[in-house]
Amino acid sequence: MSVQICFLPDNVTVSAEVGEPLLQVANRAGLSIPTGCLMGSCYACEVELSVGVGEAAAEATAVRACISSVPPGCEQITISLFVDPTW
Ligand code: FES
Repeated sequence: MSVQICFLPDNVTVSAEVGEPLLQVANRAGLSIPTGCLMGSCYACEVELSVGVGEAAAEATAVRACISSVPPGCEQITISLFVDPTW
């Protein structure tokens, strides 16, 4: 089953498969998530993920993109990239 992933703040939507790594999905969307360790310990890659889009989106949870993949059981996900000019 494919899932629509909407990346903010650029508002880019791509479709992805359940279980696909988030970094790979972002790449395909032409976006880059900053990374460091790629092992889940430095938090450089942290993004906010919420199930659903727009008004219907659930409360966002912070996830580390390098160790996260597209979760099963939802049709649409919003991922907010932190905009941090120091990176
Ligand atoms: S790159 Fe270090 S936690 Fe993801």
